[in-house]
Amino acid sequence: MTISLQELLILGQGRDLASERGVSCSGELPAASDPELSARAKAAREVLGKRALILGHHYQRDEVIQFADITGDSFKLAQAAAEQNEAEFIFFCGVHFMAESADILTSPHQKVILPDLAAGCSMADMATAQQVESCWKELERIGVASTTIPVTYMNSSAAIKSFTGEHGGTICTSSNAQKSLEWALSKGSKVLFLPDQHLGRNTAVLSLGISLDQCVVWNPWKPMGGLTEAQIKDATMILWRGHCSVHGRFTRDNVTEIRARIPGVQVIVHPECTHDVVTAADVIGSTEKIIQTVSNSAPGSKWAVGTELNLVARLAAQNPDKEIVFLDKTVCYCSTMNRIDLPHLVWSLESVANGHLVNHIQVDERVAHYSKLALQQMLAL
Ligand code: 13P
Ligand code: SF4
Repeated sequence: MTISLQELLILGQGRDLASERGVSCSGELPAASDPELSARAKAAREVLGKRALILGHHYQRDEVIQFADITGDSFKLAQAAAEQNEAEFIFFCGVHFMAESADILTSPHQKVILPDLAAGCSMADMATAQQVESCWKELERIGVASTTIPVTYMNSSAAIKSFTGEHGGTICTSSNAQKSLEWALSKGSKVLFLPDQHLGRNTAVLSLGISLDQCVVWNPWKPMGGLTEAQIKDATMILWRGHCSVHGRFTRDNVTEIRARIPGVQVIVHPECTHDVVTAADVIGSTEKIIQTVSNSAPGSKWAVGTELNLVARLAAQNPDKEIVFLDKTVCYCSTMNRIDLPHLVWSLESVANGHLVNHIQVDERVAHYSKLALQQMLAL
């Protein structure tokens, strides 16, 4: 397989996302070694009181998550943003697409703040609005667009969510992908699943019983997605060629190796892992399901967990009665989630407490309108 330089840069997170999205923070970022950081965060939080709400994704560092008013997976945090009407400032400790969704789902008087604008998502960057529009044009040209329903993973830009809303589709997260696909296939005969091929394939095959032959992969870097008209017409699932750089690292060999090393271990993985890995695992689940399953398991249970390391380390610390290990031998954080650290949280809280709105995430009105349709469709499912 040959990969172009441009593709390689995106796959390798080689872009300077901070400069693409604007200035991350001014020169007043406190030093990470400042022993007063926690006290400063607490003080600024107290000044803001009920005017502020801090949302924290499960992949966030401990130093940040300790300040979250609500923790959750991407679905739970989107719900929290939609239901929460009181706070004027919502500090989103997560990544850019999550903060955009929160902006879309909150009321106009509420302002969403992403403490570091460099906190993007390499998977979300694998589908640009222009690429998705050209894919759709090809589907129209060969006469299948009218029966194709877009289902877009939350891990996507607001522009892609807007495309989804405009074409009668829905957003999904890893915790409701099955429901979303069932809904889409009750409305049309095909699904265009964006941008994570693995979540799309795993859900279609393992939850809906669709065969692997019914899934094709659309490569945005090739004419016609690298597919023939016949392949597209015969397919039920058109999967976008995107993946997560963190979950994509786990391999079937990791599963085999851990089973040999820890007899009786159960393997639980996120559905963003490859089909090869999820079919070798014992349990597949969204971040929230992984936490529930492991926390509610019997004392003495042994778990190898295939998801982001901050979450796995916290789960191990919170469940000392169980043996909980990371599925891979090498350490793997989500580097963009980790961009949100205590210095950035302190900087953003103090700035807002002092009357300076910083890193305000604002989605364009038209984009927000159609994205909201697709997000509300998800919340209604
Ligand atoms: P969840 O939907 O499980 O929160 O996952 C979000 C994410 O970014 C996983 O990589
Ligand atoms: Fe994106 Fe993967 Fe990080 Fe989730 S873990 S935010 S999908 S890069």
